[in-house]
Amino acid sequence: MLKFPVPFETTIFVCTHKRPEGSPKPCCADRGGREMREQMKEMVKARGLEETVKVYASGCLGGCNQGPMAIRYPDGNMLLGLQQSDLKALIDEAADSD
Ligand code: FES
Repeated sequence: MLKFPVPFETTIFVCTHKRPEGSPKPCCADRGGREMREQMKEMVKARGLEETVKVYASGCLGGCNQGPMAIRYPDGNMLLGLQQSDLKALIDEAADSD
C-alpha cells in the first residue's frame, strides 16, 4: 500500500449515485448531483484552481433523503440539499482556503 497526503487544499466528493427506476429510495443522480459535480469541475477549471481543488464523483454517501449530497475536506462538512445557488459559494470558499 502506498500512502501519501492528499495533494489538494480542498477535496469535494459529490454523490452521483443512480438507483434503478422504480426504487423506493431517492438518489442524488435524480436530483441533479451529476450535473452539479460537472458544474463545479468547470468552475474549478475556469478559475484555474485545478492544482488546489478537486471535485470527485462519489457513490452513495448516506444522505439520500436530503440529497443531493456532498462531503468536503479538510473541514469534513457534510453538505445536504445542495442547490445550484450553493455551488459558486462552495468554490469561492475553496479558493479562499488556499
Ligand atoms: S444516493 Fe446520494 S447520498 Fe445516497
